[in-house]
Amino acid sequence: MTALESFITDMPKVELHIHIEGSLMPAMMFDLSKRNNVTLPYTSVAEIEAAYNFSNLQDFLDLYYQGMSVLHTEQDFYDLTSAYLKKSAEQNVRHTEIFFDPQGHTERGIAFETVLNGITRALEDGKKNLGITSLLIMCFLRHLSEDSAFATLEQALLYKEKIIGVGLDSSENGHPPSKFTRVFAKAREEGFLIVAHAGEEGPPEYVHEALDLLKVDRIDHGNRSLEDDALTARLAKEGIGLTVCPLSNLKLCGVKDMRDHPLKKMIELGLMATVNSDDPAYFGGYMTENYLDVAKALNLSRDDIVTLAGNSIGVSFASDARKAELREDFQKYVA
Ligand code: HPA
Ligand code: ZN
Repeated sequence: MTALESFITDMPKVELHIHIEGSLMPAMMFDLSKRNNVTLPYTSVAEIEAAYNFSNLQDFLDLYYQGMSVLHTEQDFYDLTSAYLKKSAEQNVRHTEIFFDPQGHTERGIAFETVLNGITRALEDGKKNLGITSLLIMCFLRHLSEDSAFATLEQALLYKEKIIGVGLDSSENGHPPSKFTRVFAKAREEGFLIVAHAGEEGPPEYVHEALDLLKVDRIDHGNRSLEDDALTARLAKEGIGLTVCPLSNLKLCGVKDMRDHPLKKMIELGLMATVNSDDPAYFGGYMTENYLDVAKALNLSRDDIVTLAGNSIGVSFASDARKAELREDFQKYVA
């Protein structure tokens, strides 16, 4: 291992873009399909793994929704979240901000409360037993209607103290942020922080809409912002965090080769870019692998890695007190 690889491996990390349903590893998917009598079109873990070849976001989403259909009980959501936290602790993740997709479950008859209780119980245990702090962000599925998003927001209002923010994910093209202007206005009024996936596959215009109409506090992905110089300058000037996911971009063919990834350019342009795993079970890596692969391909320096990891603390939604702790730990490590 090179010195930079050890530095990355041992570094205390903050994750800001992880879909908990995307951390469902093939082995657990297989076990839960048996536990819950869900028929999957696979007869082995190897067959599941072999199916993970994607040409674009929709290819992935089709398997992602199929995969999450094995999650039924509160215990399933507890086990899923616990496994992600255990792996994250092994990779020195100290704080994580986790997305969940309630509509992916309520649409197939699983109660919002079942999902939320399983996840939050695991997060509490993760804090106690592993020292990982966490926050939960609820995403609306953008391929569904505004009405469905409003109904989901109504449910979240019953559990406001457990959910820090609201986001937007699923099929980007054809489902611009403007489709959800009113529901995000209501979410803001209710005190939720706001994020949205934008510029992953969709055009820079969707990033403008996320900023101007949804009034996001961070952009998830944001890669295609770089096609618009004025937008890029605005993101830099306003210090808007971009939660970038290198292995996801590679697997979903946003970049043909990791050497084409825009992360280095983002750093040079002064954008608040961060490194994240997105859907680690589907894209071949958790936090450490994302850092290692992109650092190698782009020949990133130790200073670049320090900048990226510092950005993650800076644009996180943790309290000022927790941010100060994370920063102090990180600075000790760097020194
Ligand atoms: N983009 C959009 N929707 C998603 C993603 C993503 O990267 N991961 C899970 N749902
Ligand atoms: Zn994502």
